[in-house]
Amino acid sequence: MAYLRWRRFTELASLDRPWLGELFMRKRGKPIVAAPVEKWDAEYQDGIYDRLNRSEQRHHHRLLAAMIADRWPNPRVLEIGAGEGVFYEALRAHRPARYVGVDFSSPAIARGEVRLAPEIAIGEVKMLLGDGRGFETDETFDVVVFSECVEHLGEVEDLVAHYQDNLKPGGAVGLTMWLALKPLRLWHRLKAMSQVLDEAVINTPWGGGWLVAVVRATKMAVALAISCASWIIQSDILDRPILA
Ligand SMILES: C[S@@+](CC[C@H](N)C(=O)[O-])C[C@H]1O[C@@H](n2cnc3c(N)ncnc32)[C@H](O)[C@@H]1O
Repeated sequence: MAYLRWRRFTELASLDRPWLGELFMRKRGKPIVAAPVEKWDAEYQDGIYDRLNRSEQRHHHRLLAAMIADRWPNPRVLEIGAGEGVFYEALRAHRPARYVGVDFSSPAIARGEVRLAPEIAIGEVKMLLGDGRGFETDETFDVVVFSECVEHLGEVEDLVAHYQDNLKPGGAVGLTMWLALKPLRLWHRLKAMSQVLDEAVINTPWGGGWLVAVVRATKMAVALAISCASWIIQSDILDRPILA
């Protein structure tokens, strides 16, 4: 318990002092590795994510849904990495005009189609199978949501740039992420390219912690340059001879 409290203290302190997060981060040189689709498929098939439906596990969904509805009444929402669409259940109370959930796990989408069958039947909701790193649609939305999945979707700058055309004028990105030092690096990068509309942290008595935010990307060119630079640094391209 003391260790968990210490960890939460470092996470909270690093929110506005990223250097402090780097100082206390374990395995700081090791990148976050995105889990393959087979892992997610197996977990959905085994019902592991059923626990996400419990009330004490969904504070972040409820807060993000309220943040969105506060700015966009009857919002139109695209959720990438939507799993079985549990976030929609928090959004439902705010009468969303449209919800499209995209996930690359077919068992997750199949479960979502059952869970949200009434709304799918009347055409307000769609659950679609697709890779969130490159999903394309002509539809536009008030908010594109990444809830507990942004660390699986590649470089955050590329990701946000990719969905920019799917945002209505004045639209924004909604984010929830499990509070931990390494994923918080992505939050700092997203924050550096954005205007923050809302930012909050949820702490639960059982030790859960999430960052919840709504941001509007403003510095796309700079962000893409950062993303290219981080790709060059991570790849071995600088070690190769110029004339092979
Ligand atoms: C922790 S779950 C979160 C589910 C949901 N967003 C929520 O908050 O309840 C992460 C989800 O991201 C999905 N995911 C991971 N990588 C993905 C990708 N490249 N494209 C689409 N979905 C992906 C997984 O299949 C999984 O459903």
